[in-house]
Amino acid sequence: MGEYCQIRQHGSAMKRAGTTRCKSNEIMPLTGAACGADESSWSYRGAAYIERTRDQNGESFVLRELGLKPTLQQMLGDCSAKRVLDIGCADGWLLDVLNPKEGVGCDIRHFDGFRCCWNFVMGDARGLPFPSRIADVTISSLVLMWFPEYKEAIQEMARVCEVDGVVVIAIMQPYFYRTGDVDEYDNFVVSRNLSRPFVLEELRIAGEVGPFAYHYRPMPDYLNACIRAGLRIEEVRDWHLDLGDYVRRFGSAMRGSIRRTGKVPMYSFIKCRKD
Ligand SMILES: C[S@@+](CC[C@H](N)C(=O)[O-])C[C@H]1O[C@@H](n2cnc3c(N)ncnc32)[C@H](O)[C@@H]1O
Repeated sequence: MGEYCQIRQHGSAMKRAGTTRCKSNEIMPLTGAACGADESSWSYRGAAYIERTRDQNGESFVLRELGLKPTLQQMLGDCSAKRVLDIGCADGWLLDVLNPKEGVGCDIRHFDGFRCCWNFVMGDARGLPFPSRIADVTISSLVLMWFPEYKEAIQEMARVCEVDGVVVIAIMQPYFYRTGDVDEYDNFVVSRNLSRPFVLEELRIAGEVGPFAYHYRPMPDYLNACIRAGLRIEEVRDWHLDLGDYVRRFGSAMRGSIRRTGKVPMYSFIKCRKD
């Protein structure tokens, strides 16, 4: 621990464990660099994903706008007096949305576009480079499905969270993500055994970006990991796509080879309190 970085608008600072210091309003000079301890595909292929989420006419951007952003904002409320740690932050868009008093993004690699009004620390969710209890709010959005050690990551989220602080985990809804197909009657037909974990080794987001290894596990596995990490579950929420809205935007329920439906949830959110 030893360096500090100014936080947007508030002029306050959060102590950090990172390797570089950023200057106000500059992009950090770690472009393309990956955390040496992690050789996962996200270190090497993540940039293509971020490109995709920035395309305002693209599905990834729209789903984030409709589903992730408003739900996380509702669940977290006003963060203007909070210290927020976003794990697997990518380009830091969630910190921009929440606009906390102090914001730190952590990821296994640095992405272009991370704004230096927030602090960035390169690190692995499974062993966070932070002391205990440094954040009032700890978030991971669409991160825990990409590696086997989700229990360790949840334990780490609990450890770095302040007592009475909040931990929020967003995931693709496990039961309906790459576990089957939508039929011509708009029903989701499950074709996998959902009772036990499995790994999809060659998953490509939107059929193009990847391959990434996706780790399926039943929903209770996430919930039990939270409880074992000493967290009290306050809320579990699913988000469903409004298919009419989707079709108005994209002209069809089909996107590449994937047919969308609003009948089953797309994202799940777990909100916990650290006692
Ligand atoms: C699907 S993206 C989600 C990005 C962002 N949180 C969002 O909701 O749009 C997954 C992110 O998790 C990061 N990631 C993957 N494995 C990680 C790990 N072990 N530790 C920290 N970050 C990781 C990736 O680099 C990537 O930025």
